[in-house]
Amino acid sequence: VQDFLIAPSILSADFARLGEEVDNVLAAGADVVHFDVMDNHYVPNLTIGPMVCKALRKHGVTAPIDVHLMVKPVDRMISEFIEAGASYITFHPEASEHVDRSLQLIRDGGCKAGLVFNPATPLSYLDYVMDKVDMVLLMSVNPGFGGQSFIPGTLNKLREARARIDASEFDMRLEIDGGVKVDNIAEIAAAGADTFVAGSAIFSAHQASDPHGYDTVIKQM
Ligand code: DX5
Ligand code: ZN
Repeated sequence: VQDFLIAPSILSADFARLGEEVDNVLAAGADVVHFDVMDNHYVPNLTIGPMVCKALRKHGVTAPIDVHLMVKPVDRMISEFIEAGASYITFHPEASEHVDRSLQLIRDGGCKAGLVFNPATPLSYLDYVMDKVDMVLLMSVNPGFGGQSFIPGTLNKLREARARIDASEFDMRLEIDGGVKVDNIAEIAAAGADTFVAGSAIFSAHQASDPHGYDTVIKQM
């Protein structure tokens, strides 16, 4: 049996009430906190860094924190996020000068390591590092913003990634990020994903008119 994990992306949360937002999605049944780090260099947006991760831990968040690094260079942020209480750290191979070294740094710090594939990035980056990867993250949008539409070609890429993982001797999660909604998640799961990032779908459901919107969306997923 596959275990499916729901990972709300806090990029779409209300940053002025971040602790409460994270508590609410976890109470509603979310499994993992997806934490998008953008540097206005590797991607055209600027978000949050290790201090905010540390603050969530201090606030009492014990769930896994899945740090998605959209930064260049990568390695210094790896050490900072290990220190800040990250559980998973994933990065884009194009943003690292030495992919094998970055993966090893993450593992040496006691975190799970992952590679992120942009829509046009080939899965062949996995070829020589499968033994150092705990998570394969496929982007189903171009990174930088929440609220974009799922790129349909990602479904075939997911099938390809699933086949690679199953053919390997390693235990890896297959995560999907971008445009995941209640009405396409079944199809995405059927294509092989087991870990689902959803930002706008989850956080936009929480409105004054529907204070339990999170529960509804997360349970439907
Ligand atoms: C995009 C981020 C995503 C984003 C997803 O660069 O990596 O995690 O928050 O947002 P939605 O679910 O709204 O597409
Ligand atoms: Zn992300």
